[in-house]
Amino acid sequence: MATRTDTRGILSEENTQKREEIIEMLKRAYWMEIETVMSYITNSVNPDGVRAQEIKESLAEDIQEELGHAQRFAERIKELYGVVPGSLEFEAEQSYLQPPDHQTDVVHVIRGVIEAETGAIDFYNQVIEATESVDPVTNDMMIEILHDEEGHRRLFEGFLREYEAEGLA
Ligand SMILES: [Fe+2]
Ligand SMILES: [Fe+2]
Repeated sequence: MATRTDTRGILSEENTQKREEIIEMLKRAYWMEIETVMSYITNSVNPDGVRAQEIKESLAEDIQEELGHAQRFAERIKELYGVVPGSLEFEAEQSYLQPPDHQTDVVHVIRGVIEAETGAIDFYNQVIEATESVDPVTNDMMIEILHDEEGHRRLFEGFLREYEAEGLA
């Protein structure tokens, strides 16, 4: 670090505090993705029934995408001179994505996914605001990932609409 001569930008000495704030936000985003991977694995396997099939397949596909998000956040933490946290720092939050009492309760899973995606969308919007103008690289990455999450939520909102239309949700 002693050889760094940046005078502007997020890697400059003068932006140390801002950089640390962004690293903390990226750690939170990283854990959100990791937990989403766990929740999507369980919910791509547990649900039973003909109607569950589409949901399971869709979640199975999302797992790789959410894992990719976690990896991108980890890389960015390092680029900003942070350290990617170890597993002991993990704290679970997704109470709404725990297995339902009945594994045919697909609506529970759909609502849980919508809630997880909404949490990500809210938080990533905050990161976008916090990085606006001061860290264009993180800002750009977050915008791209936000786009993915908006797509995921829209897909599951569509699934929910079908159940609502049939009086099942
Ligand atoms: Fe994600
Ligand atoms: Fe997502």
